[in-house]
Amino acid sequence: MASKSSTSYDFTDAVVVITGAAAGIGHKTAELFAKAGATLALMDRSGSVTEVASSFGARHGGWVADVSNAQSVTTAANEILARFGHVDVLVNNAGIGPLAPAENFPVETWDKTISVNLTGPFLVARAFASNMIARKSGRIINLASQAAVIGIEGHLAYCASKAGIIGMTNCMALEWGPQGVTVNAISPTVVETELGLSGWAGETGVRARAAIPTRRFAKPAEIASAILYLASTDAAMINGSNVMIDGGYTIT
Ligand SMILES: NC(=O)c1ccc[n+]([C@@H]2O[C@H](COP(=O)([O-])OP(=O)(O)OC[C@H]3O[C@@H](n4cnc5c(N)ncnc54)[C@H](O)[C@@H]3O)[C@@H](O)[C@H]2O)c1
Repeated sequence: MASKSSTSYDFTDAVVVITGAAAGIGHKTAELFAKAGATLALMDRSGSVTEVASSFGARHGGWVADVSNAQSVTTAANEILARFGHVDVLVNNAGIGPLAPAENFPVETWDKTISVNLTGPFLVARAFASNMIARKSGRIINLASQAAVIGIEGHLAYCASKAGIIGMTNCMALEWGPQGVTVNAISPTVVETELGLSGWAGETGVRARAAIPTRRFAKPAEIASAILYLASTDAAMINGSNVMIDGGYTIT
């Protein structure tokens, strides 16, 4: 089978905002976009985001920001737009996944999960949408999950937040598609990152892998490559989709 390097995309002159870019899928996505020539504006609650950004080269920037905090998002977005002038691509990737049984799921954990995983992507998309709409060009990719379309034990708030991402993606795609801005979701199965492996270690992980038709978890690069594709001109007709990258798990 022929393989195509994800770096064959050319994102020269493109400004790409990635939330949750200090680790995991966001970090790998930043790496691939940087290799493809993009200029990165990385946002993360972790202070390490500034070093992560400079590790890819001097033209990139890192912003310590909490996506669930409207003021924090507005401040970072204004600074990003002031520095780079415009934004071409937004990857709404920051997320958390605290687990608890449904019958005594703590309200604070519910609120925190919804505010980071659902309100956060809404705030960040809203902060950059007017700039994209004014330029009649933009790509927004929202990280959902297989948890958006199936139930997973212990994942009450996570499933609800990710299902919400699909609904939000549909509405944004409908309203902003005519303005040249496409909005899509990506729904991975378990990905081999700190977040993914923390919930699926040991015997649970062995059973979960066995239940996936491809018999393994996804790698961060497999998610990042799909994000680059959705951000590319090749994907201009894909709008309002939820791209499953789950090895076939949700068809079983
Ligand atoms: N790993 C998986 O198995 C998996 C599967 C499906 C979907 N996803 C989704 O992919 C996305 C990335 O997951 P990952 O596995 O790379 O996670 P990760 O934990 O490895 O990295 C998440 C990053 O987001 C940052 N972050 C967390 N809360 C934040 C906040 N409030 N504001 C700003 N930054 C914040 C963290 O500091 C971290 O750098 C998440 O939305 C997750 O739900 C992951």
